[in-house]
Amino acid sequence: MNVTFLLNGETVQVEAVPTRTLLDWLREDAGLCGTKEGCNEGDCGACTVMVTDADGAKALNACILFLPQLHGKAVRTVEGVAGPDGALHPVQQAMVDHHGSQCGFCTPGFIASMATAHLTGATNHDDALAGNLCRCTGYAPIIRAAEAAESAPVPEWMHDTPPTVEAAPFAPATLDELAAWYWAHPDATLVAGATDVGLWVTKQLRNLPDVAFLNRCAELRAITQTDETIHFGAAVTMTEVLEDLRGLQPSYAEMIRRYGSQQVRNAATIGGNIANGSPIGDNPPALIAMGATLHLRHGETTRDIPIEDFFVDYGKQDRAAGELVTGVTLPKSVPDLRCYKISKRFDQDISAVCGCFNITVNDGKVTAARIAFGGMAGTPHRATNVENALIDQPWTDQTITAAAAMFATDYTPMTDMRASAAYRLEIAQNLLHRYFAELSGQTTSVLGVRS
Ligand SMILES: Cc1cc2nc3c(=O)[nH]c(=O)nc-3n(C[C@H](O)[C@H](O)[C@H](O)COP(=O)(O)OP(=O)(O)OC[C@H]3O[C@@H](n4cnc5c(N)ncnc54)[C@H](O)[C@@H]3O)c2cc1C
Ligand code: FES
Ligand code: FES
Repeated sequence: MNVTFLLNGETVQVEAVPTRTLLDWLREDAGLCGTKEGCNEGDCGACTVMVTDADGAKALNACILFLPQLHGKAVRTVEGVAGPDGALHPVQQAMVDHHGSQCGFCTPGFIASMATAHLTGATNHDDALAGNLCRCTGYAPIIRAAEAAESAPVPEWMHDTPPTVEAAPFAPATLDELAAWYWAHPDATLVAGATDVGLWVTKQLRNLPDVAFLNRCAELRAITQTDETIHFGAAVTMTEVLEDLRGLQPSYAEMIRRYGSQQVRNAATIGGNIANGSPIGDNPPALIAMGATLHLRHGETTRDIPIEDFFVDYGKQDRAAGELVTGVTLPKSVPDLRCYKISKRFDQDISAVCGCFNITVNDGKVTAARIAFGGMAGTPHRATNVENALIDQPWTDQTITAAAAMFATDYTPMTDMRASAAYRLEIAQNLLHRYFAELSGQTTSVLGVRS
């Protein structure tokens, strides 16, 4: 595979194995060892680089970024953040001034994230840096450095123009081409953001001989709206979903803000999160609770299904070999939807339990209920017994308490490293009480409650 991209301002052409990571290539072939390998699974941010494409600049984890994903893009590593004459970038100078580095291992990753935020004008530094882990300096000096650099002009060398490249056969530009290719190669692996597939390579050491990359397929990248609905193509990233849903669905959006880190959300796609069928993916419970529709395509055949029907069993989805997810359509406004992500670490952690509630109350009585959980079973699915215990009942504490007991009949959760079965069941019950309190006007978010 021939891949062309801009690296620190210079065009490079690489004959690449499809699943060679940018991090390995930078350190082993390009001699650029500033970008560090910490976890090699997207968790620590030591490998952060800035990648610019037609949509702008974003921070990405190079350890789970395959070289073909960079075709036609521009990459800036920590070596390219300082000026050609060695002049420090404002965020580098600020890190020196504010003592933002001790052992320095994490520092190149922080610098790449900070320089990207500086370029895009992002000033929510907690969000921008939640995916960069530092074990010795402490975050206060780093945040102070990021704030200090905010108003400095962006150095002119930081503005990258991605190169114009030929379409590549491994990254089809149209849905027709992609669907035909996948139909003819049903055993191939589709790569969207590679935040799951990347780990198959870096952690499971799997060989993936036949792959296609989705990120250049225009239809899969599209976001369209009607008066009532919003449609996300399967290759829309979680960052883009977050931006579009902030105003429309604040609770779902707030959950997505805690989905991975900014580097992960910049790569991860909504289609990948659904297609992988993970029982602990964060989108499926929310999409099931709001009654979203999933779109699939197999060769020339398309079909639409309620998303809840997609998750058949653990590791088994309603998707034939060679069939791809093309997108998901959801209602724009679901005023009673609340999404709760319960994880050991508040930011950037996979959920132990993810509970999403969408209950309609009219004249003090429950008239409709859709409740869906991840982390409670082998698939994300609805709590139908709880729903039935709520419908037609008065919206009271008594009803909630009685209905909450039914979670034990809907789910038999397991104990694993994220949570015990007993904790999961208890948290599900507590979340129904939380939902009731929240809809009654009480503040329940840990970010909102004040003593
Ligand atoms: C550090 C880290 C943190 C994470 N945090 C979270 C989190 O908080 N919440 C969460 O839910 N997930 C999290 N994840 C998991 C992951 O980010 C998501 O599942 C992500 O949305 C997957 O999307 P992707 O585009 O990266 O998928 P990929 O890795 O590219 O693909 C995943 C799977 O889906 C298939 N696939 C992709 N697109 C399609 C398609 N259109 N049609 C058919 N099959 C397709 C691929 O072949 C593969 O089997 C995290 C991952 C990492 C590494
Ligand atoms: S090395 Fe940890 S995120 Fe890449
Ligand atoms: S300075 Fe040592 S890990 Fe951050």
